[in-house]
Amino acid sequence: MKVSFVNKLSEKKETLVIVSDKSSMPKIAGLGQKTLNSINLAIKNENFKFNKLQTLEIISSDKLGYSKIIIIGLGEDPSVSLRESDLIGGKITQLNSKTNSNIDVLVSKNISNDESMLRIGYGSILATYKFDKYKSKKSKTNFSKTIKLVSNKNSRSLSKKFNHNKSVAQGVFLARDLVNEPSNILNPEDYAKRIKGLSKYGLKVEVLNEVKMKKLGMDSLLGVGRGSQYDSQLVIIKWDGLKTKKTKPLCFVGKGVCFDSGGISLKPGNKMEEMIGDMGGSAAVVGLMKSLALRKAKANVVGIVGLVENMPDGTAQKPGDIVNTMSGQTIEIQNTDAEGRLVLADALWYAQDRFKPEFMIDLATLTGAIVMSLGNKMAGIFSNNDSLSDKLFIAGEESGDLVWRLPLSSSYDKMINSQFADMKNIGMGGAGSITAAQFLKRFVNKVPWVHVDIAGTATGMEKNSINTSWATGFGVHLLDTLVSKFYE
Ligand code: BES
Ligand code: ZN
Ligand code: MG
Repeated sequence: MKVSFVNKLSEKKETLVIVSDKSSMPKIAGLGQKTLNSINLAIKNENFKFNKLQTLEIISSDKLGYSKIIIIGLGEDPSVSLRESDLIGGKITQLNSKTNSNIDVLVSKNISNDESMLRIGYGSILATYKFDKYKSKKSKTNFSKTIKLVSNKNSRSLSKKFNHNKSVAQGVFLARDLVNEPSNILNPEDYAKRIKGLSKYGLKVEVLNEVKMKKLGMDSLLGVGRGSQYDSQLVIIKWDGLKTKKTKPLCFVGKGVCFDSGGISLKPGNKMEEMIGDMGGSAAVVGLMKSLALRKAKANVVGIVGLVENMPDGTAQKPGDIVNTMSGQTIEIQNTDAEGRLVLADALWYAQDRFKPEFMIDLATLTGAIVMSLGNKMAGIFSNNDSLSDKLFIAGEESGDLVWRLPLSSSYDKMINSQFADMKNIGMGGAGSITAAQFLKRFVNKVPWVHVDIAGTATGMEKNSINTSWATGFGVHLLDTLVSKFYE
């Protein structure tokens, strides 16, 4: 599907979509009085209320020029959020495939600013995502037609800016694909190969296998993968958008557990299949790196993902085991299902040790407890730095990938002390997401850091016009917004 910005209505008129609230309707630019009269008649006859995202289809007599006119309501509230603009765009794509026609879009003044227009375009692209590669009968929806967003004056500058949104959408699609992919296909080794394939976009990709990680002392990460037939991998992805300046890189770290069976602390069978998505944090990082490369972001960014499979086996790690970490701290494994933090412990340490970054942000489907706290609506964030955490919150509001900050505190930190080792990998007595974050904090030195727990948002969010798939791609837009708004 092609989405573009134009400054006038198409010559060949097929479907016209009008996005408007009730009071702005008569003032829509580009519509003649006759057309408006017929539309008003239809609105009256159908008792159309202009509720948010409500649609009214008008089959018009040919004197209107368009054979079909569809109105999308904006509701009472004259202000429209950027996320709502995304959803409007998604709705237009659905109409596009349903009517199988080329669409011109006119919007009312209250959402005709550049940012909203771009987001309508962005949403309309997001809505084309589908994951049907394992269906022998493919879904019939086709997105072969065009969507033209009509803007009076600045269509050329909008088209240029739109490249940014298109790049983000490609990153979101990659993240969704990776998360939707089953673990018999996407195992740590194949995943690393797929990431290698991103070098064609100008990213530098480096892969550390088990032998190399062993030399670095990453026993914590390696312990998680011990029961798996696949080699664990640490993949480093670099985007050097600022070739001349020697600035500290921005660093993103992702949990990539391709399948989390729980290991010897085996999970119950119900919904265990959803643990193919336990690499959602890594997928967000990989998706982000692709977006940054596609849009040639003016920033130096490093993405690091720890890829493992957590399986029970005669060789698997066991409760009671004590492992070393690259940091030198030791961990008593009390539950092999609390494996994400074990992967991140070494990945975070490696990231700060090697890259001395401006900041580190890790993303992980880390705890079931975060789903209890925030459901599938927002991700939980934890931070040692108010300013970075505030920036991420703002990026959340703007991108629509919402985050909410939860506390870190030494009183929770005590809960992970161990009688044998420096710490244990689970805390007793509630606050499971916080004790997990406290654990990670022990592997972060002075560098500003945010941990994002996306266990509730990487998958399973409410379906809507911009996503009908299980995997959401959550985090890509969030991080891209953080980078572009505050660091470019
Ligand atoms: N991968 C899970 C967390 C998870 C749960 C992700 C639900 C997505 C949906 C993680 O590895 C895990 O098993 N965490 C345990 C930790 C516990 C043993 C301390 C949990 O949350 O139950
Ligand atoms: Zn896990
Ligand atoms: Mg687990």
